[in-house]
Amino acid sequence: MLRKVLLGTVCAAVISLPAAAQDEVEVLHWWTSGGEAAALNVLRGDLEAGGVSWQDMPVAGGGGEQAMTVLRARVTAGNPPTAVQMLGFDILDWAELGVLADLNALAEEENWDAVVPEALQAFSRHEGVWIAAPVNVHSTNWVWANANIMRELSLEQPTDWDSLISTLQAIEDAGYVALAHGGQAWQDATIFDSVVMATGGPEFYQASMIDLDPDALGSETMLEVFNRMGQLRGFVDDNFSGRDWNLASAMVINGEAGMQVMGDWAKGEFLNAGQVPGEDFLCFRFPGTQGTVMFNSDQFVMFELGDEGQDAQVAMASAVMSPAFQSAFNVVKGSVPARTDVPNDDFDACGQQGMADLAAANEAGTLYGSFAHGHASPAAVKNAIYDVVTAHFNGEYDSETAVEELVFAVEGAQ
Ligand code: BGC
Repeated sequence: MLRKVLLGTVCAAVISLPAAAQDEVEVLHWWTSGGEAAALNVLRGDLEAGGVSWQDMPVAGGGGEQAMTVLRARVTAGNPPTAVQMLGFDILDWAELGVLADLNALAEEENWDAVVPEALQAFSRHEGVWIAAPVNVHSTNWVWANANIMRELSLEQPTDWDSLISTLQAIEDAGYVALAHGGQAWQDATIFDSVVMATGGPEFYQASMIDLDPDALGSETMLEVFNRMGQLRGFVDDNFSGRDWNLASAMVINGEAGMQVMGDWAKGEFLNAGQVPGEDFLCFRFPGTQGTVMFNSDQFVMFELGDEGQDAQVAMASAVMSPAFQSAFNVVKGSVPARTDVPNDDFDACGQQGMADLAAANEAGTLYGSFAHGHASPAAVKNAIYDVVTAHFNGEYDSETAVEELVFAVEGAQ
């Protein structure tokens, strides 16, 4: 507690001062693809312009599982990084341990309470203390399609399950890979987010993935979810195993594949390749999930480092929360701002749709945390579900077995 009070006092003293030239942040993150690196450079550039130097600590792997493993090793060795990219329940788990810096003084001065959506604050604050600065809001229920292939085959954007399947079939029949996918547990789980929502609707998503209700997990609807995952698996090429998500995006970009189901960080890859939404690629909500947004928000968490590094931590948190930065960064990253007061002028059509969808879902109560990206359940449960979804996707379980295993896995992980 004393340390928290002290850090709060230090924050209050330094927030309006420019950071000293020798300040340095060591940042642990998993933004290693071309589009992600371009976005990261926006942050790095802002900080360096303010005199804070950047020590990069990249650990590839969407969802951050590998990054969290490295983080645990660093903390165990008594050497936590200055700042860490983190998602959802992982933030709260670390906050519980009392090892995170208290950002309240800065948050108060900059009035974060008023501008950060409540769904995000649920993960940025712990027992009334701001312990993370949200940099964006991504969502997982998107499809990215090659516009030329869609035009060539006179295909419309699918809006429901049957039209999704017939569209994928038409793409496959024309000799393309229908669905670009990388066989990694978190990518399988990212598709699962959308399929659960599309199959069971918002109440079922809430009951199964957030409330972890055994009846919902073991239901006929869940059986249908796994059957549908099996159908999608049939549209993936033979070399999918282990493929990184950005290489799957590249297949759509290069015209080798028709579609990818992926969060909107995929847009960063299309933009980084010089592609234009509407002309070269299409973005649309996963059929059957229109009106809902399954969000994940990247947040930067600062570890308590004693006196050392606090100025740089405050400078970084302040830079992350600046409205101009939130626009510049998210335009490149594919996400949308984590503040409600950022104009949408600089965003492309997909970004503007993302912002409008987020505001509408927030209003309608149809904003749900992404299971795949740690916003629906703590890591132990998430990883247990990953195992089942992946085993099924790889043909180790049939759908009936997957449903049974899902119920056991979730029960055992709690
Ligand atoms: C993160 C994104 C990232 C993606 C792929 C997600 O978990 O929220 O920021 O781009 O993983 O690396």
